This record gives sequence, C-alpha cells and structure tokens, in this order.
Amino acid sequence: MSEINELSNVRASMTDNSADTEMLLQVRSIGKNFGGVRALDHVNFDLKSGEVHVLFGENGAGKSTLINILAGAIRPDEGTIELSQKPVSLESVHEARRQGIAAVFQEFSLASELTVEENIFLGSEETTGIVLNKRKMRDTASEIVNRLGFDIPPRAQVSSLSRAQQQMTEIAKAMLTNPKILILDEPTSSLTEREVNQLFELMEVLQSEEVAIIYITHRVAEIRQVGDRVTVLRDGRYIDTVDAKSTSQQELVELMTGRSIGEFFPEVSFKPSDVCLALKNLTTRNKSVIDVSLEVRSGEIVGLAGLVGCGKSEIGRACFGIEPIERGEVEFLGETLNHLDPNSNLKRGLSYVPPDRRREGLLLDRPTRENISLASLDLATMSTKAVLHRSSERVITHNLAERMRVTPLALEKDANTYSGGNQQKILLSKYIARKNKVFILDEPTIGVDVGAKAEVYEFLASLAAEGVAVLLISSELPEILNMSNRVYVIRSGTVQAHFEGQEISEENLLNAFFSESAQGNTIRSATP
Ligand SMILES: Nc1ncnc2c1ncn2[C@@H]1O[C@H](COP(=O)(O)OP(=O)(O)OP(=O)(O)O)[C@@H](O)[C@H]1O
Ligand SMILES: [Mg+2]
Repeated sequence: MSEINELSNVRASMTDNSADTEMLLQVRSIGKNFGGVRALDHVNFDLKSGEVHVLFGENGAGKSTLINILAGAIRPDEGTIELSQKPVSLESVHEARRQGIAAVFQEFSLASELTVEENIFLGSEETTGIVLNKRKMRDTASEIVNRLGFDIPPRAQVSSLSRAQQQMTEIAKAMLTNPKILILDEPTSSLTEREVNQLFELMEVLQSEEVAIIYITHRVAEIRQVGDRVTVLRDGRYIDTVDAKSTSQQELVELMTGRSIGEFFPEVSFKPSDVCLALKNLTTRNKSVIDVSLEVRSGEIVGLAGLVGCGKSEIGRACFGIEPIERGEVEFLGETLNHLDPNSNLKRGLSYVPPDRRREGLLLDRPTRENISLASLDLATMSTKAVLHRSSERVITHNLAERMRVTPLALEKDANTYSGGNQQKILLSKYIARKNKVFILDEPTIGVDVGAKAEVYEFLASLAAEGVAVLLISSELPEILNMSNRVYVIRSGTVQAHFEGQEISEENLLNAFFSESAQGNTIRSATP
C-alpha cells in the first residue's frame, strides 16, 4: 500500500483552501460517441481520496461509459483525465490497474469455464508481477475471499456459481491489485441483505484506508447509506454534484429524470380465480428444491422471496424445464406436464423470463428487433406457414419496445450496444410479445432505473388485471412487498412460510428468511 501512503502524505501537506489539490481524480470535458449516439457530452467529474462518490442517472445516461473510460476499457473521444494532478492516458484495463484504478463492471467479465481463483488472477499477472505459482495463487485468492467475508468456494468453476457468487468473484478480482480507486457498477443488483452489508462494511474499511470508490446504483435508498457525494448524469450530460447525506430521494430522482415522479408502485387489484400453475412436492435432481408445493392462480401475482441461493430461482427454472426434476409434478392449467421443455412450454402458454439476460436471455450480437420477436415468431401475427411477416415484426417489436421504454428506439442495433438497464427492458419486451397465461419472472428489474421500474410494475399489474397468473421471483424486498397478493418464502430449497394480504410485511418476511423455524404463518397455510 505504499502508493496510498504516498497519497496520504500528499494530502497531509495540502492547505485547506486548495480544494483542487485535494482531488485524486479529475475528469474534464470528457466526450464519447458510439456511431450517432452521444454517450458522454463534455462531462466533468472529480473524486477525492477516501470518498464514496455515487454516479446516478437513468438507463442510458452514460454512467457505464464514463467508468469504462476510467477503467481503461474504452477510450474517450475528447477530454482529459488527471490522477493526483498528473495527466494520464488510460490505454487499457492493465494500464488503469497499474495506475491504481480497478473496476467491477456491470456485465461480468468472468471466464465461466475457469475456477474462482483462476478468474481472480486472470489478466492480472502483469500488473501484480505474480508468477502463477498455484500454491501462492490459492493462498492469495483465499485471503481476498476471506477478507471480503464472502461465501464463495475458491476452487469452484464459475459456471456453477449463482449470479450473486459471480458478483462476489468480480469484486474479489478487483481487490487483487489493492486499487486506490475502486469502481463498482451496480454491485448490489444481485446481492441480498447479508452480502450487501458485507460489501458496505468492506467499503468502510477501504474508505478508512483512503481508497476512493465510484459507486453506481439504481437503488436510491443506498445513496444516502453509502455515499458522500452524488454526481447526476442525464442523456450523457453532467447535471450536478450534490451532497449524498442531505439530498432527499425525491430531489435525486428529480435531478435524474428532470421531472418529478409520483407514486412508484401501482395499485394492484387482485381477482384470483382458477389455479393456473401448481407445483406438487417438487424436488429437483440437484436437491436445490426439496418437496415444494405451491399454487399460482389466474389474476394474482405471487411473490417468491428468500435469500440469494435459497432455491427460489431453481423453482422457476424447474417449472420451465431447465432444471431437471427428480420427483413431484408441475401442473399447468390442470394438466400435468410430463415433458418439460422450454419451447413447448412457451407455446403452451407458460413464459419464463430468466434473471441472467446475457447468459440465457439475449443474443447480444443480433439486432434488437430479432431479440424481441424471437419468442413469438410462430404466432399468426408474426408469420404464416413459417414465412415471417417482416413489416408486422417491425411494428410489433417497435410497439413492445416503446411500451417498455427501450432507449434509443433503434431496434436494428445489436442488443450489446444498449446500456445494461435497456438490455433488461429488451428482455422483458421479448417475453411480453406472447400473451401467455402464466408468467414466471426471475429478478425482472435488475439494473432498471427508478422511472422505468415503475413502468415494469405497471406492466405486471396489468397482467394480473387481465387474468394472467404471475410468479414473481425477487430478491428486492420492496418489489415483493408491494406487488404480491401472496408470498412464499423459500429457505434451503423448501417452502418456509406463506403470507397473504396484510400478513405480507417486511418483518414477517425477514423473520422467515433468517429464523430456523419461522414465526407466524408457516407452511401450515402454504396452500391457499
Ligand atoms: N458499444 C456501444 N455501441 C453503441 N452504443 C453504445 C455502446 N455502449 C453504450 N452505448 C450507448 O451509450 C449510451 C450510454 O450508455 P451507458 O451504458 O453508459 O448507460 P448507463 O448510464 O450505464 O445505463 P444503465 O443504467 O442502463 O446501465 C446509451 O445510449 C447506449 O445505448
Ligand atoms: Mg450501465
């Protein structure tokens, strides 16, 4: 940490009135174009050592572009960057790391066929000067993982990890070079309470060591909790930098959108009728789900809550035929599904929206139009006898993307040219193209900005109003609390508790998440 000591010395020798020299990083008038899109337009940004500086803005505002430039992943078209008052050129991720800047990117950069420890070291050999001695690698990897307090087995293959564990691996990887600037792009989007708290604790330790953190989040509540200052971007432009502790959520959202946002969660009126989806004593082959029975009725949203890794995701996957089943049944509209395969499920009327848009959801190097129409090409509105109606496809996909507020609305562009949150909206558009009877959605609002989230919730409410059965799998507690008619809490692969109506409270849910034998309304009332 000698660089950090050096830095502290620089700070100590500074006079109080020289605000500028306090800056660890200064970004002046940075610009970046992608084709015709002006992603960043003369943006200014500065960072003091030891602060957590939040970057806030709508989907597509330019946050990831800015931090990609700082992390050396892309080059700016114009502008200057100074590190400790010296101009730098961050030509590569290596170079940025060498200069003390490390990033956890929004979209993971892990090699899925390698282990956690191999990934932690991947690409860092040059910057750390570490000869890849397996033993040393192992020790260092375990050390970092332990320091973070994360529950990730260092020798596990990354493809076998949950999204949360992959997120933790990314963070561990960034910590390897002891950065003096750590960039975290939506690090909490797939973590729950416990891991989030661990991450926040780590951030506090780093701050006390004078490490500066650039933190991107769409969770407004987190801003005050962890941030010192907030810089707001809108449409690629710098809007303002404000104090994180004294600026209200309302003010932040107004700065972000340029307008005031009213009610966030819609009123949902449930009229549950027939059971559309029923799981009967379902156990998956890998035992991630054990003896689960639950029902989802037409006209209701049922929340599936629980900690990351509790098995709630696997329940959705098992229904759709992605996770092999050992015992039990999935009943759809009164019929037992014997051959659970995704394609026939979709045609039958069962839609499943996966949580990982990059791995299971989208074809990133294909046009957005194709991505949206992919799950509904066989519908009469799209094709006749396997001949695609191109003009209807264009109109239908355009309307869906507009409804989900995909920006920019230029659907011939490949999916990977869209910002993270917009990719999520593309994924949702793909599945709503089919008006199916049952929707299973796993973490549908990951990375979606506050304004667009409200849009997604409106959409879920409208599904319920139209008599669709919705199973909402989510680690976002407010989402579960505000959108569900009934909630099943999953713990260690089993149904731990069931709550309905007024019983759906934060306290009840958290109790069921953590206590060995849940209080209140437990499995006894699991069948509605
Ligand atoms: N590789 C690319 N090619 C073309 N356009 C791009 C590319 N990367 C980003 N853009 C565009 O630049 C703009 C800014 O995107 P960026 O990813 O920085 O947004 P963001 O603020 O991180 O949004 P989100 O909250 O959704 O992650 C968007 O309009 C996006 O479509
Ligand atoms: Mg982004």
